[in-house]
Amino acid sequence: MKVIHTISSLKCTLNDERNSGKSIGLVPTMGALHAGHIALVERCVAENDICVVSIFVNPTQFNDKNDLLKYPRTLEADYELLKAAGCSIAFTPDVNEIYPEPDTRVFNFGSLEQVMEGAFRPGHFNGVAQIVSKLFDMVQPDKAYFGEKDFQQLAIICEMTKQLQLSTIIVPCPIVREEDGLAMSSRNTRLNISERESAAKISEILFKSRSFAGRTPIAELKQQIIQIIDEVPSLRTEYFEIVDGKTLQPLSDWKDSDYIVGCIAVFCGEVRLIDNINFTPKSPKGDLERL
Ligand code: PAJ
Repeated sequence: MKVIHTISSLKCTLNDERNSGKSIGLVPTMGALHAGHIALVERCVAENDICVVSIFVNPTQFNDKNDLLKYPRTLEADYELLKAAGCSIAFTPDVNEIYPEPDTRVFNFGSLEQVMEGAFRPGHFNGVAQIVSKLFDMVQPDKAYFGEKDFQQLAIICEMTKQLQLSTIIVPCPIVREEDGLAMSSRNTRLNISERESAAKISEILFKSRSFAGRTPIAELKQQIIQIIDEVPSLRTEYFEIVDGKTLQPLSDWKDSDYIVGCIAVFCGEVRLIDNINFTPKSPKGDLERL
């Protein structure tokens, strides 16, 4: 595995590979890698001749400076995991390499960015689009891999690719979870023991709620889920929305879409966690009366 820090060296290496007919896959990450990231890397390795993994904690997507400061950085361990997964190139630039000057580009993703993460983290998706468009420009990947864990991010990246008329194929990858169901996240390492226990309740409650899909009115189910989560020690729901999986707009009736996803952001102590659950295909009718 090659470790590359500069854009010029990355482009030079990839040009050689491309000219010899090799296909190139990209997995953008912010490091502190875990099995969720590695699932994307393994898929990228399997589907492309060259797998590039970028590790860059992108300052422009952090609306909370404290979150940026506390973001875990574990570069040496990341390299070991990437080597073992068969990654060809780890691209780990520093901030000046990526942003020699401030990036003033403003993207417009319309209603896709006006809900959920976009509403609660102003500027976040603009920063994500800035870095991902730069990475796409540098790497020119045939395919790029993104996790469904960041469900709205995935929709934004697809929209950005469309708007910029890029030929890169976006490959969505399923959420990888801990044994108790908690969606893997680099931020999980910041939870203490009792918070970690509480965090597992988020996915547990979401999974249970699936048996109410199509039966309990959406507004009622939303309210119940928020209430039950907020009763768990250390948990405080920021939002829970039941949305159309394509437009990401909140639904008021189960009949209004055939692709329905529940998206949640929860503070666990000081750590902000996100997760989501597919409410389609509808689960068989259960006999539970309450969550
Ligand atoms: P990061 O949080 O490091 O995630 C990198 C990629 O791994 C994203 O596509 C994310 O959805 C995916 N991922 C994280 N946890 C996952 C899990 N438990 N299961 C499946 N996939 C998972 O997302 C970002 O970085 C940044 O916003 C980035 C796209 C790199 C731009 O800076």
